[in-house]
Amino acid sequence: MPPIPTAELHLHIEGTLEPDLAFALAERNGVELPYATQEELKAAYSFSDLQDFLNLYYALMTVLRTEDDFADLTNAYLARARAQGVRHAEIFFDPQAHTARGVEIDTVIRGITRALDAAPETYGITTRLIMCFLRDESAESALETFEAARPHLDRIAAVGLDSAEVGNPPSKFREVYALAREAGLKCVAHAGEEGPPAYVWEALDILGVDRVDHGVRCLEDEALVARLVADRTPLTVCPLSNVRLRVVDRLEDHPLPAMLDAGLLVTVNSDDPAYFGGYVGDNFTAVRDALGLDETTLRTLARNSFEAAFLDEGTRAAYLKEVEGWTR
Ligand code: HPA
Ligand code: ZN
Repeated sequence: MPPIPTAELHLHIEGTLEPDLAFALAERNGVELPYATQEELKAAYSFSDLQDFLNLYYALMTVLRTEDDFADLTNAYLARARAQGVRHAEIFFDPQAHTARGVEIDTVIRGITRALDAAPETYGITTRLIMCFLRDESAESALETFEAARPHLDRIAAVGLDSAEVGNPPSKFREVYALAREAGLKCVAHAGEEGPPAYVWEALDILGVDRVDHGVRCLEDEALVARLVADRTPLTVCPLSNVRLRVVDRLEDHPLPAMLDAGLLVTVNSDDPAYFGGYVGDNFTAVRDALGLDETTLRTLARNSFEAAFLDEGTRAAYLKEVEGWTR
């Protein structure tokens, strides 16, 4: 069965760092990892919550140091994504996680964009880049990061907000999002993963986001669901991530069907595939099997991904045609 053509809209490039590449880069850069073998590292991939995962995510990405490292990381993702049906990818990166340890933002952006520039020809994938602010860092740090990225804004489609959610509401980043919108960028934010529906309201009303990342907790607030449906605000849902970070107990209990029934524009994505047990095609297969989704529903999810993507209308129409032509 060919994989269904999709757009991946919630993907942290640092979260695609597989153990084999992490060890190879550690060796190349003379970085000491606190794990002797890949097996020992993989044994650490059992998380109690978002923070528990973030601790490993930030520790392991210290192997990323040079422009080549970021290009290699991005190419490895694109190759896997293509094999799983991804036709368009909107990719998050976390500049502060690198600048804080002395890696220049220019190095990060040049490495990633080198791979993205070749992606249409090499992998048949179109891309956008989304710069995320770490919400557990200060609002001032986000503003400094935005200014440092100004020379590269022609390469950046949108800004986003990630890292530890609870206690770091969207309103903290009002100012930097206003600057991003003034500069013509799209806006997205993680909200309603571990945080309450109030954070989704803030993302909409204070940050003016075009999409909500995760957003699964919106179901706790009827008025919020009505608002998201009325505005057709896309939600980038990450089913395997939600299980691994214990946002839901079991995939069989995932609210994806309830979200679809409510009329929400939901999409399926992989978040941090090297850590959460699968790339986007694996997420599609897992929800199909655990939730009993039929072909029509899978096609709706794929169509939603292109509807929700930051694409020009001609390209969007071409991708939607590919979805209609897909047969299992
Ligand atoms: N949530 C918040 N921050 C993140 C995530 C996530 O799932 N992945 C990487 N940073
Ligand atoms: Zn995420």
